[in-house]
Amino acid sequence: MHDPSPALRDHLFDPSGGLIYQLRALRYRRTLWAGFHAAVADWLNGWQPGCPSLVIIGPNAGHALPAGFLARFEQIVALEPDPLARHLLARRADAGGLRFERLDCLATSDGLARLAARFPDAAFLFSNVLGQVAAPGGSWSSLLVRHLRERPWASYHDVVSTTRAAVHQVPLQSAAALDLEALLAHFWGRGEITVTDHETLHLGGRGPCGYAVWPITPAHWHLVEWVVNQA
Ligand SMILES: C[S@@+](CC[C@H](N)C(=O)[O-])C[C@H]1O[C@@H](n2cnc3c(N)ncnc32)[C@H](O)[C@@H]1O
Repeated sequence: MHDPSPALRDHLFDPSGGLIYQLRALRYRRTLWAGFHAAVADWLNGWQPGCPSLVIIGPNAGHALPAGFLARFEQIVALEPDPLARHLLARRADAGGLRFERLDCLATSDGLARLAARFPDAAFLFSNVLGQVAAPGGSWSSLLVRHLRERPWASYHDVVSTTRAAVHQVPLQSAAALDLEALLAHFWGRGEITVTDHETLHLGGRGPCGYAVWPITPAHWHLVEWVVNQA
């Protein structure tokens, strides 16, 4: 029978992944990105969704996933359109339970419903992807509430980006979502700052939030939020 779900198409030259991302990862993973990756490792270590299966949306090559993370789950499905990233992810030492599928759950307004139906027993990790892809109708926050409210999921995602370097880089943990003004003051201090809004602040979820800055290059800084939905 024909499955009408949109399928991920390979992309090697997309700005959100692709070759440029691999080259940046190669260059910065152990230096400029290391502090941010340590924050991601802390978030993931504290996340216990209580499922043997995990679906990761946008893992790329797993540059931000701490060693051993994939082995915490019996089955892992990765939804990743970058073929080079898929190749590298599959070569990780902890990738024994990993397989790839082609569902594009971010392309249509019912994509998250299709995701939930396709993987009825899994937890979901949105791996720095929701701030990169425009929500197809409404906002990611409303789509997540509508389709994944009763499922365990977590997301870390770009909230804003800017060319101004942060002055304070220690990650923040908060029992509740913080407002943008407070977050900018915390990481960038006072003064004028121009930001690009990725429209993902307070993505919903039920649980504590984390915030960290990610210098993707020395001239481009992202504020990243971590949220968890406990089902
Ligand atoms: C900013 S990168 C983040 C990569 C990695 N998770 C990390 O934290 O370093 C965004 C990733 O999302 C992937 N992506 C883009 N559109 C996607 C979609 N519709 N479904 C799944 N992944 C997607 C990109 O190929 C890329 O690997």
